[in-house]
Amino acid sequence: MSSLSSQEQTSQKPLRPDGSIAECYRCKQSVTPHGKCGCKDGITLILADCRDVLPLLEEGSVDLILTDPPYGARRPSDRSLVKSQRFAEVVGNENVNTEWAHYRCLKEGGACYCFCTWDTLEQWRKGLSDAGFRIRSCIVWDKVIHGLADTATCWAPQHEIILFGAIGRHKLLGSRPRDVIRCTRVNANSLQHPYQKPLALLYRFLLPSSQEDALVLDPFAGSGTTGRACKDLGRKAILIEIEERYVKIAARRLEQEVLFT
Ligand SMILES: C[S@@+](CC[C@H](N)C(=O)[O-])C[C@H]1O[C@@H](n2cnc3c(N)ncnc32)[C@H](O)[C@@H]1O
Repeated sequence: MSSLSSQEQTSQKPLRPDGSIAECYRCKQSVTPHGKCGCKDGITLILADCRDVLPLLEEGSVDLILTDPPYGARRPSDRSLVKSQRFAEVVGNENVNTEWAHYRCLKEGGACYCFCTWDTLEQWRKGLSDAGFRIRSCIVWDKVIHGLADTATCWAPQHEIILFGAIGRHKLLGSRPRDVIRCTRVNANSLQHPYQKPLALLYRFLLPSSQEDALVLDPFAGSGTTGRACKDLGRKAILIEIEERYVKIAARRLEQEVLFT
């Protein structure tokens, strides 16, 4: 697992000649260090390695990080999707890497929801703590329908874990959320990404941890579920994804008008 030295954490890389940090894949306009581009819905989509973009984001500009990084674990249910050749192996799945969490783009009082798995939990916990997050909750997502695993030797896997941490004091909004969430996973036939998360699940994290118009960062955007959820709930977002095939899917999902008001 790589982590940054304190010098690397503070040194800013030079901006592009026009003072921007990247180009938005959707509107093709320059993205400012505050994550703004020309997209009217406020959802910026960047095709890049997040480690090249995060150091350029303005310190303290983001209200919330909601992300689902490569897990650092391969599970039998994942292997069956990859083996079926519907999906290629996801970039970065070999190791737990928390380098992204060290960049100081989150503001004081901001929070981070980070998906992980039970078998890599300790590495994620340590990585996020080392990056300065105070881990406040370990949330269990009950997927309702179980996945595959060695049917003779493993319990049928039906949950995933989300670590919830904060920089400073992050006050939750609305009625107090409970740390077990029951939400049906995306049906295998409708998946556009092997690790696509249900929109309804992401609403459950956005509502207690962000106000309308808040800026949400997902450095591992995949098919853009975080961005789609932000658009539906009137939040702004910066999405970064390294693979163009998934950026294209995210852009398509974001084209639709708001699903509800
Ligand atoms: C677990 S998936 C996210 C799936 C997403 N939650 C969804 O609903 O579609 C993680 C994503 O991170 C991307 N990724 C891996 N390394 C990356 C990097 N260094 N920078 C940006 N994206 C990266 C992978 O291509 C993959 O699509």
